[in-house]
Amino acid sequence: MNYSPLEFQESLEIGQVDFVSPDEIKVQLNIDAPENVALSTGKPRVFPRINGYVLIHTEEGYVVGQIEWITVEKSPYPKRQGLGDFGLVDLPFPLRKMSVNPLGLLKEKGDKGYSFRRGVSSFPSVGDNVLLPTDEQLKAIIESGENRFIEIGNSPFAESAKVAVDPDKLFGRHLAVLGNTGSGKSCSVAGLIRWSLEAAGENPNARFIILDPNGEYKKAFAGTDNVRYFPVNEEGDENRLKVPLWFWNSNEWCAFAQASGKSQKPTLINTLRSVRSGIDSPVVDEKIEMRRYISTVITALKCEKNNGSPWGSFPKPQNFHALLLKWNESFIAKESFSESQKSCIEEIKNWIECKRIERTSRPECKYPNYTYSLVDIDDILRMLQNAYIEFGGVDIDVGELDADIPRPFSGESFLRCLSANAEILKTSEYISVMEARIKTLLSDVRMKSIACHNDIHLDAWLKKYIGDDSASNGTITIVDLSLVPAELIHILTAVIARMIFEALQRYRKLNGKCLPTVLVMEEAHTFVKRYTDDAENQSASEMCCKVFEKIAREGRKFGLGMVLSSQRPSELSPTVLSQCNTFLLHRISNDKDQELVMRLIPDNQRGLLRDLPSLPSQNAIILGWASELPMLVKMRYLPEKQRPQSDDPDFWKVWTKENDRSVDWTAIANEWQGNN
Ligand SMILES: Nc1ncnc2c1ncn2[C@@H]1O[C@H](COP(=O)(O)OP(=O)(O)OP(=O)(O)O)[C@@H](O)[C@H]1O
Ligand SMILES: [Mg+2]
Repeated sequence: MNYSPLEFQESLEIGQVDFVSPDEIKVQLNIDAPENVALSTGKPRVFPRINGYVLIHTEEGYVVGQIEWITVEKSPYPKRQGLGDFGLVDLPFPLRKMSVNPLGLLKEKGDKGYSFRRGVSSFPSVGDNVLLPTDEQLKAIIESGENRFIEIGNSPFAESAKVAVDPDKLFGRHLAVLGNTGSGKSCSVAGLIRWSLEAAGENPNARFIILDPNGEYKKAFAGTDNVRYFPVNEEGDENRLKVPLWFWNSNEWCAFAQASGKSQKPTLINTLRSVRSGIDSPVVDEKIEMRRYISTVITALKCEKNNGSPWGSFPKPQNFHALLLKWNESFIAKESFSESQKSCIEEIKNWIECKRIERTSRPECKYPNYTYSLVDIDDILRMLQNAYIEFGGVDIDVGELDADIPRPFSGESFLRCLSANAEILKTSEYISVMEARIKTLLSDVRMKSIACHNDIHLDAWLKKYIGDDSASNGTITIVDLSLVPAELIHILTAVIARMIFEALQRYRKLNGKCLPTVLVMEEAHTFVKRYTDDAENQSASEMCCKVFEKIAREGRKFGLGMVLSSQRPSELSPTVLSQCNTFLLHRISNDKDQELVMRLIPDNQRGLLRDLPSLPSQNAIILGWASELPMLVKMRYLPEKQRPQSDDPDFWKVWTKENDRSVDWTAIANEWQGNN
């Protein structure tokens, strides 16, 4: 068909505006508007189609609308084509109507096509013509936005229009990839990484770290030499997953040891302080022993002070007082001490004695009153610090040493230090169960292979896991968590994520700029699981979730972007989800998950989400910060060998012996039991 420009314009007309409000425009369709395929637009196009685009002419340009729903209303007479029709007999007639969401404005750029921007300032009025966009206009709408360097797919509404995203926006403010199992999340994530690296050219200075609990990504990047792969059961030592236990901070240790609040946690934290300051060697003489004792008491006292125990509500002051008396038992001025050392010890003993007398002189009161000021506690702290220096201590900040500083120590020295500290703090009887638990865990073979390494250098680990200068040793790190023992998986994931975060924090501190890095988290619902706050005892999974919450909140400032992939958005931590600024939504059929996703998205964009339950795999809706418009996208095709290993099981072909599947349980049993 050959149209004149005017006829062409007319042929695109499909109806008139019937109702206008700021978030909804209703349109009455012409009788001759296409019923399923529009041929007038250049190429055949499905129309009317939910979520398709239409244009409404206004004085500023074209208002772009997205079709939300279409309905048929019985009208007593057809929409008249002209006056001549009035002689006809009227019969009830089905009239088609549709509702359209105004999205933005499409303007002509002289002779250089069109430009699209979000937001509508002047609305059409009733009676305005509604048009189908031409291919060129559709392309301008879909391809709007700047810095669209990474092509991720095309639009099902216009095959020739490429959907591309701005990487700064996509990774800079966290991306959530959500959808049912088998809907194509892993393929999309693997594709995003691959396409980003391809778009960045040769040897990009990029860093992607994939935490892969199912071990599926190795296959997706096999054959490329820019991948570092760290599984648990690697034969050689070089690339086996290693997360040394001296990396773990006090929170992680507490979760690992399931330490309870009252006495186990303080003992554990003190132990970490002392083992990290290297004072776990066997005791040599009485003076050094006293110096260590004083340093431990200082640490413990500071801890008590920070907790507010001395002036807290009952029974905190009483417990604090009991602790002071216990400490006092070991302050003994030995013969070998110098006079000034002896007098320091005496001074401390006197102070504690005074407190004891204060208590006994007031029988109605079971413990001395520490409430009135800090001075009391600061007095004794000063005395202890003087004594510490008198006994040869040089570190004025004793007790201030960061319990979380990653300095190497071995599992044995940790255990030695733990019992020594418990002795000093008089908590031995309370920590015996925890001590036994730690001993058992540390003696596990798998634990040893992953965590017991005090010969690793921190910088070497960072080079391997985050990537060397200019990413010269590869751009992708795959941490295969598939064979990590269940009791360790949350701790290890938390440690790896936190180490990456803290390393990037320090990078920015030293360099003044951030080092863009992407942390990819598959099956995020296992690691970023919603929890109820229980201040007393923190489980490993809760601790792990908190690490990711922190990254979600603060990662952006340090260049750490997160990509979360999950099939159960309703089980994810709301803090993490609400910090994700871009969503790639695959098919979601569960109503709870749909509801949650709906709530994350502004009202007037929800129409698009009605497509969610019926999206075919490989199709998704992208919306949020990285995409100018919320839109449907057919992700680029990923060839079989670039897909993660998550094929659907081939029951039928195995049953019918089309696919071979022999069984050798002996080999499996041997491997399992380590009988090779
Ligand atoms: N971009 C794509 N190119 C080619 N095939 C795809 C693409 N996306 C999805 N598929 C097909 O869909 C199947 C399932 O995809 P995928 O493994 O990514 O799902 P998933 O959402 O990660 O599932 P699960 O939640 O179970 O991990 C793939 O095996 C592949 O056949
Ligand atoms: Mg998957």
